[in-house]
Amino acid sequence: MQPIRIAPSMLASDFTRLGEQARALEAAGADMLHLDVMDGMFVPNITFGACVVQALRASTSLPLDVHMMVREPERYIADMVAAGASYVTVHVEATPHIHRAVRQIQEHAGVVAGVALNPGTPVGAVECVLGEVGLVLLMTVNPGFGGQKLIVPALEKISRMREMLTAMGSDALLEVDGGVNARSARMFTGRGATVLVSGTGVFDAPDWGAAMRAMRA
Ligand code: DX5
Ligand code: ZN
Repeated sequence: MQPIRIAPSMLASDFTRLGEQARALEAAGADMLHLDVMDGMFVPNITFGACVVQALRASTSLPLDVHMMVREPERYIADMVAAGASYVTVHVEATPHIHRAVRQIQEHAGVVAGVALNPGTPVGAVECVLGEVGLVLLMTVNPGFGGQKLIVPALEKISRMREMLTAMGSDALLEVDGGVNARSARMFTGRGATVLVSGTGVFDAPDWGAAMRAMRA
């Protein structure tokens, strides 16, 4: 069984102190940093692009987990890789050519390709690319904003995706994103999630290290 990894989402950070907070998370035991790129089209919100990924690359040695909530993400894959992304995850709903997009990420040696699904998208939608990815991201809130309430029926997809990955002998990371905190973590890990993204669940905690340890436990 894979270890549980914690990926704090910088969406919940203080954007005036990004580098400092990235270093503090590293010291507190984070396994990777989750970076939410939003384009105002695929999701209603706009956050940041490759420039900020690059700035964070210079601030920490943690792997950078880039979650692209971007329509036609193919347009920005090369930029994210050049900026220092370790994982690049694209949404199946964001492009008519998910297989091509995943292949485009894979062309970059050392970068892990990921595929993401919205809460309303059935797990079967990514069946054909599961053999091509090193990470599957299941959204448990509708993407676009931090601090939302967990969509409980989406939890069932974690168990189903875990079964699909096991059946095909895949060692891809199974990442969940939305509503994860020290209290809810067990609902995700108990169903087979191995990477927990957490924004407000980490940043709103008085002790970031303790919150991450509680999620892992
Ligand atoms: C939402 C983002 C998440 C967000 C999660 O679209 O993909 O990564 O930061 O926020 P929390 O952990 O507060 O639900
Ligand atoms: Zn995210």
